[in-house]
Amino acid sequence: MEKDKVNVLLLLFIVTIIGLLFVHMDSHTYIQAPPAIKAPLSNNTFKIPKALYSITPIKDSEHFVVSAFIDHRLDGVIRVISIISRNHLQPLYCVYCSTEQVCKTVHTDVQIHSDHFSFPYGASDVICKGKHMQDATRVLITTDKIDSANLKMEYLPIKNKVVQETFKFNFTVCISNLFGDYNNVLQFAQSMEMYKLLGVQHVVIYKTSCGPDLEKLLKHYETEGMLEIVPWPIDQFLNPSSGWNIKIHKGDIHYYGQLVTLNECIYRHMYQSKYVLLNDIDEIIMPYKHANLPSLMEDLQSAQPTIGVFLIENHIFPKTQFEESGKFKRAEWNNIPGVNIMEHIYREPDRKNIYNPTKMIVNPRKVQQTSVHSSLKNTGGSFLVPFNVCRIVHVRVPLQGHLTKEQLFVDKRVWDFEQELIQNVDQTLKRSGLL
Ligand SMILES: *[C@@H]1O[C@H](CO)[C@@H](O)[C@H](O)[C@H]1NC(C)=O
Ligand SMILES: *[C@@H]1O[C@H](CO)[C@@H](O)[C@H](O)[C@H]1NC(C)=O
Repeated sequence: MEKDKVNVLLLLFIVTIIGLLFVHMDSHTYIQAPPAIKAPLSNNTFKIPKALYSITPIKDSEHFVVSAFIDHRLDGVIRVISIISRNHLQPLYCVYCSTEQVCKTVHTDVQIHSDHFSFPYGASDVICKGKHMQDATRVLITTDKIDSANLKMEYLPIKNKVVQETFKFNFTVCISNLFGDYNNVLQFAQSMEMYKLLGVQHVVIYKTSCGPDLEKLLKHYETEGMLEIVPWPIDQFLNPSSGWNIKIHKGDIHYYGQLVTLNECIYRHMYQSKYVLLNDIDEIIMPYKHANLPSLMEDLQSAQPTIGVFLIENHIFPKTQFEESGKFKRAEWNNIPGVNIMEHIYREPDRKNIYNPTKMIVNPRKVQQTSVHSSLKNTGGSFLVPFNVCRIVHVRVPLQGHLTKEQLFVDKRVWDFEQELIQNVDQTLKRSGLL
């Protein structure tokens, strides 16, 4: 009996040693990994103040941090929105400081979001738990426990320090990414003016790049105050995929880091906006039974007081099908690049056994983690808004290109706003120097 016990202990000991060896070998692989920055930032190619880069490499690692927030719902921990290299996991530490002199270092809990679509880099939260975090003003994520507090490093400012009960905005639209030479000016101007008529006060775009005419329009809306541009130079750090399917669009991270920016946008507006709309640049979340978003949400929320995530079905209006009369084919817009959504009133029918993807209107204070079409972690639950109450007008290339006009539905909701919409679009294009 005694001898068997000794043998078992010996075996356990050997297994443990082998295990430790493996862990040790593994730790060497990440220490020797090459740095992740592809193109070094130089002042000539990239004239944005350093504080506005939005993406900061974690020293001696392949990971990046984006921004830091107090999460009052989780006992006041610091949540750092991050981009984690999933194949190079390692302990990370959190240095948080209340004044220049007083800093503390704690361990972190790295939470990689479950939706990463198999790309090697994933949207993540690095959670710092410690004492007196509410007093902290800045935070640093490091790989090194010991010297980090003394190093001259770039700290992130900590936001959302105080819970607010009233908000600067009622409705904010988060456009998660703008990239390439996207120059769809007319559709963007129409969408922005449509949002205004629907009751949106604030639009945020995470911008990697865009075309020259759209640039002018963005400048106009920024000056006017409706639009906030967050620089999103993800292509300076990683090779972003232009799609969600890694097999078709190879790269380091899903769709220009869309999952990171969507989450960033929610935390950025937690105490700034009553509701946040998470949709793409060519999509309009459109009420069909209410005049605008405030009256829609008043009804939805009073019927479902606890719900924090409202799912809105996407519907495709092919840009290849034009309405017959041509009454919105205006000469004034002939030289404006982009799609005229008022000409595209044909909507594709639902497909059998194919689920219409959704986008969201959320109460940001009830969301912890989000994906593109649904929330990953929230309190209060989700509600699928009926199609006849609210749906997305999405003018784009068809998904069912073989269908003829007769097989599509006529949907003229945008025309209900025609008078004000046309007037406001014209005014905007003139003020932007495009008309
Ligand atoms: C960029 O500008 C900063 C401050 O203006 C300067 O300290 C730095 O050396 C410059 N870097 C390069 C690569 O030119
Ligand atoms: C938000 O909605 C409330 C209630 O309808 C209204 O009193 C307030 O003026 C709105 N705020 C903005 C910024 O429009």
